[in-house]
Amino acid sequence: MDKGLPLIVTAMEAEASPVREKLGLIGEGKPLGEGTTALLWSNEFVHLVTNGSDSRFGVDAIGTIPAGLATYLAIRKTSPKIIISAGTCGGFISRNGFIGEIILANRCVFHDRRIPLEGFVNYGIGDFPVANLDSIAYVLGFSLGTVSTGDSLDAQPYDLEFMNSVEAIAKDMEAGSVAWVSAMNNIPFAALKVVTDLVDGEIATEEEFDTNLKYASNRLSEGILSLIHELEDFRMEKR
Ligand code: ADE
Repeated sequence: MDKGLPLIVTAMEAEASPVREKLGLIGEGKPLGEGTTALLWSNEFVHLVTNGSDSRFGVDAIGTIPAGLATYLAIRKTSPKIIISAGTCGGFISRNGFIGEIILANRCVFHDRRIPLEGFVNYGIGDFPVANLDSIAYVLGFSLGTVSTGDSLDAQPYDLEFMNSVEAIAKDMEAGSVAWVSAMNNIPFAALKVVTDLVDGEIATEEEFDTNLKYASNRLSEGILSLIHELEDFRMEKR
């Protein structure tokens, strides 16, 4: 692969902390600039950015807007060779999903940007370029499929209908915006997601998410470590 290191973009501190530990990213994160809460960790192998904590509400700044901003700022600082949106996600029983499933994206879309104006439908959906890491997914035993992004933890009927139409196997709240910034900057994009809850299951999402967050975040740290190793001598192919 070209110059630069991989840049991992995470949202919640609970997801980022085991990942940092596995990657040897120690100490405090460096603020990415005035007027933002994003924090950056770096070593000789990898960079990791989190969106930080919302300055008004004191919770992790999750969702598409902070993720896009953190990605943009981290690109300026690190000139990465690839950007990986890493975190937890909802999975789908109807597509053989299970708690702890590790997923690599081969497609990345938005499911909640409905813009029925001429020329804007596809802009809303996004369908962003995704690095072809199929062979790595195969070697590591990760699932490969569509990651679909929206700014809500729940899924309204139309969102579900859309996610079924693209056979989404992961529903998250950041990948699409990270992919958008990556595409604008011509940097290969990947998404690695681990299932905390089953979108089409019986248990309330928030309850299942809380129960499984720690387990899924540990799985995420293992998945990311393996992916970073595989990327070291991987030659990027266009899809
Ligand atoms: N992250 C973890 N579970 C999720 C879900 N069901 N929807 C969006 N983001 C998630």
